[in-house]
Amino acid sequence: MSKYHWWRDAVIYQVYVRSFLDSTGDGVGDLAGVRAGLPYLKKLGVDGIWLSPFYPSPQHDHGYDVADYRDVDPLFGDLAEFDLLVAAARRLGIKVLLDIVPNHCSSGHPWFEEALTAEPGSAARARFHFADGRGADGEEPPNNWHSMFGGPAWSRVTEADGRPGQWYLHMFAPEQPDWNWRNPEIAAEFDRTLRFWLDRGIDGFRIDVAAGLFKHPELPDSDDPEADARTRDSVNPLAWNQPEVHRVWREWRAICEEYTARDGRERLLVGEVSVPTAREHALYVRSDELHQAFFFDLLSAPWEADAFRKVISEAMQDIAGTGSTVTWVLNNHDQVRTVTRYGEPATEGSRLGAARARAAALLMLALPGAAYIYQGEELGLPEVVDLPDDVLTDPIFHRTGSRARIRDGCRVPLPWSGQASPFGFTSGAESAKPWLPQPEYFAEYATDRARADTRSFWHLYRDGLQLRATLPQLGEGSLHWLDSVPGVLAFVRGDGLVCAVNFGTAPTPAPVSGTPLLSSGPCPAGVLPGSTAAWWINDR
Ligand code: NOJ
Repeated sequence: MSKYHWWRDAVIYQVYVRSFLDSTGDGVGDLAGVRAGLPYLKKLGVDGIWLSPFYPSPQHDHGYDVADYRDVDPLFGDLAEFDLLVAAARRLGIKVLLDIVPNHCSSGHPWFEEALTAEPGSAARARFHFADGRGADGEEPPNNWHSMFGGPAWSRVTEADGRPGQWYLHMFAPEQPDWNWRNPEIAAEFDRTLRFWLDRGIDGFRIDVAAGLFKHPELPDSDDPEADARTRDSVNPLAWNQPEVHRVWREWRAICEEYTARDGRERLLVGEVSVPTAREHALYVRSDELHQAFFFDLLSAPWEADAFRKVISEAMQDIAGTGSTVTWVLNNHDQVRTVTRYGEPATEGSRLGAARARAAALLMLALPGAAYIYQGEELGLPEVVDLPDDVLTDPIFHRTGSRARIRDGCRVPLPWSGQASPFGFTSGAESAKPWLPQPEYFAEYATDRARADTRSFWHLYRDGLQLRATLPQLGEGSLHWLDSVPGVLAFVRGDGLVCAVNFGTAPTPAPVSGTPLLSSGPCPAGVLPGSTAAWWINDR
């Protein structure tokens, strides 16, 4: 068995299936579309893909409301198509990770439907968090927690006699009831699900809400009930990050090791872990738990050298100290895209935002550890900020009525080719409409144009990935900060790859005299222009 742990410095591409490539012409991306896009991803040079949920689901939260954990929704294909995708990826040497959602299911899951018709106190209800309400007639929720998506975290059900009855807990939308992980039936059921997909040959799982699962056993009131909805971060200490969850990750890791022992292929568990500090984060990647956990502090850092240096240093100290590597991420399907986030003002046209996003990409790819790229990031897609209200699908919008921090803008289907929507996204008739409208300016970002233009984001990512694959200094290994002027970060990797980033707008002297190996923008020898990152081999 190889001693090389491929995941430690892997670059994984997140495929948001419904927006990647549509093979059926219904305006929604699907698994056959992903298979058709594999050669594109191979050219880009990624090591693996993470597929967003494609299981049968009423799609109240785009598949993060799972009605059947062991099948494919007809919207996206079927199990036979899934097997073809895995086989094609294997032939190309691309690993496949699935998105597993263990904190909650869909209100359309048969076990929840059974719970709704069952008696209070029944075994069927014990799979979820059902509780009596407070107040004279139980008309108030059992506690004061708020859902991450706004509004109370509890909904009341109607009992068999037609009267309002118990309440059930949902930390997200009401259509996403939380599982009760203190019930051993739930662990056993997920065990079956893991094995079902591992038996079909996949390489691992991205775990949704991996700091969730267990709630405080008493479900007490919170001192700051609105914290989760306000910050959209899992900060209610009674609802998240309970110590019992680590036992589950140890069990899941053991299952992965069992499969690895059989065929030598290492499986990977990467957790969506939102916890307050890098130190708590590190607990999730102890050597017998998850292999990786997304380090979101980089993603949430403002575009300032000191902020970036602080989060990178903390990650290196706390997370790398566990023996794992840090899992860097700048974009995903829940966040405003970097081009827009770093732009001033935050509009899709921001050239500054684009320059900074390019620099951030080179910085991320130069850091020790693994990295995740979100589809469209390699095209420099901006957030679509002006979607009309009537096309928005994000439950956050519908529960809060607020457009602030909604997630549709980063989920608009990819432009592949051509001058007008659907830009090659759907194979259907010209009248086929992508499920979210693509703006006209997506023409500039189409993959065919990007690949033909050596100054594009696509070439920057591809060149960066190629160098990562060939230069021993990149990927895993040491990082040493170099002295630099305020507003600039510079570090050296291994025996002499220097990466420097100028967070300011004015040029500064470069830390290395020669011409860079790769830079995020024009970079004459000896100078590091503003909003630019570059890599040099320092052979002095
Ligand atoms: C995190 C996922 O990334 C997000 O899209 C989803 O809405 C929530 N978890 C709930 O499953």
